[in-house]
Amino acid sequence: MPLKIRGMNAGIDDIAIFIPKPYVHYMDFAAARGISPEKLEKGIGVKAMAIPDSDEDTATMAATACLRLMKKNNLSPKDIGRIEIATECGLDQSKALNSYTIGMLEQVYGKWALAHCGGRESKFACVSGSWALRDCWTEILAGENNGKASIVVMSDIAKYDIGSPGEYTQGAGAVALLVKESPRIISLDRGVASWVISDDYDFYRPHGHKTPVVNGKYSLDCYVEQVARAFAGFKRKALETRLVRTGLNFISAIDYFAFHLPFPKMGRKALERILAEEYVEEKMAFEAPLISYLRETHGDERAIKEILKLKNSEAVFRQKVEPSVLGCAHVGNIYTGSVFLSLASIIDNERLERKDIAGKRIVFLSYGSGSSAVVYSGVIGKGHADAAGKGILMPALENRNRISIEQYEALHKGEAKAPVAEKRGQFVLEGVDGNERRNYRFIEYG
Ligand code: CAA
Repeated sequence: MPLKIRGMNAGIDDIAIFIPKPYVHYMDFAAARGISPEKLEKGIGVKAMAIPDSDEDTATMAATACLRLMKKNNLSPKDIGRIEIATECGLDQSKALNSYTIGMLEQVYGKWALAHCGGRESKFACVSGSWALRDCWTEILAGENNGKASIVVMSDIAKYDIGSPGEYTQGAGAVALLVKESPRIISLDRGVASWVISDDYDFYRPHGHKTPVVNGKYSLDCYVEQVARAFAGFKRKALETRLVRTGLNFISAIDYFAFHLPFPKMGRKALERILAEEYVEEKMAFEAPLISYLRETHGDERAIKEILKLKNSEAVFRQKVEPSVLGCAHVGNIYTGSVFLSLASIIDNERLERKDIAGKRIVFLSYGSGSSAVVYSGVIGKGHADAAGKGILMPALENRNRISIEQYEALHKGEAKAPVAEKRGQFVLEGVDGNERRNYRFIEYG
């Protein structure tokens, strides 16, 4: 018996993104490191890397993204019941990023304004944002949210050793999601989320290390294997729940793939792995040559063409993945927020292309080193354009500062004498006292 799932819709109603203004242009980076610019632009796919300024950290980015989300939606603190934060760059072994974030927001909204908000800091490398979203979503479906919306924030700084192969995949930023019933941007599908986990040392950052230990090539293998496994589980559940009616040409039921993107080329690698699996499965399912079998049993020329298109992964990539890589190409890796940067990129990119994406299905493919993958899906709502306004990602990329390699290296080493960028309407770190207490300040819109 197929499992039938009905009920209210919940998911992402709006998104706000904060990206630090300083960035390194890939041409400057290539020249400084003696790397071919084509390798960065085509081999990796990166155009710019966002670098946090000397007065920014994961807490200032989280709080600023949260504040922007609240202001944009005219939310008062009493509208919010929970603030969840996902990061792999926590600032303390005990004190969660939530405390710093609430403290900063209360500089704007008043002391105790958010005292009623639950939440915690979640960690599983880059995948924990998907778990934080899922927790808030299931809380709403269970009716345990006291009628209030939740905010899920992902905030991270991807920082690698100078001169290492990971260096050109750096990035930084925070993404805040407003999660509620009847969402404008995306309603998450029920009963289809699928996940896998195993004990791997592909990428990890032991206590005290400022940068990760990276087993680069192995991390690529772990990523594609885990994502392909989770996708297989997602497919099985999508068929069981009748979210998708037939496994034949399953890919055609998916309009967009929002991958975790450590660098843009990763989307292509992961897609190719998934398509290979799909194509082999389809070929194995039929003894007769594919086309004649389909003509006999299916008789639908359009479906046949769709299946044949699968063989051409370039076409699938262009249509279903390419719109999602915009953010990663201009920002770099933002770890936990990356998969949602892909979602924002799809919305902004297709708006610029004047495509109506209401009703389109997006599959999220979230990966965290160590290693685990979660795959789930949702449908774009009719109100997404209203929520996005003039764009979700684009406003975060306005007025950026292209910095020199010398400025970048000073920021990387923590040796910058003063902040590089001028700031308005954001939180900054004023300093850390002798007891390791961090002092933050809000810079007015001005
Ligand atoms: N023109 C065009 N392309 C070129 C080129 C040129 N002149 N020179 C090289 N290339 C291509 C290569 O052919 C290669 O393409 P393919 O991958 O399609 O084969 C690509 O550029 C990369 O070059 P290399 O194979 O030489 O790889 P590298 O030594 O530069 O390392 C990396 C790449 C392993 C991703 C490295 O950047 C790294 O370690 N990054 C950090 C770890 C990472 O991001 N892992 C991803 C999975 S783990 C994860 O997702 C969690 C997370 O967020 C970290």
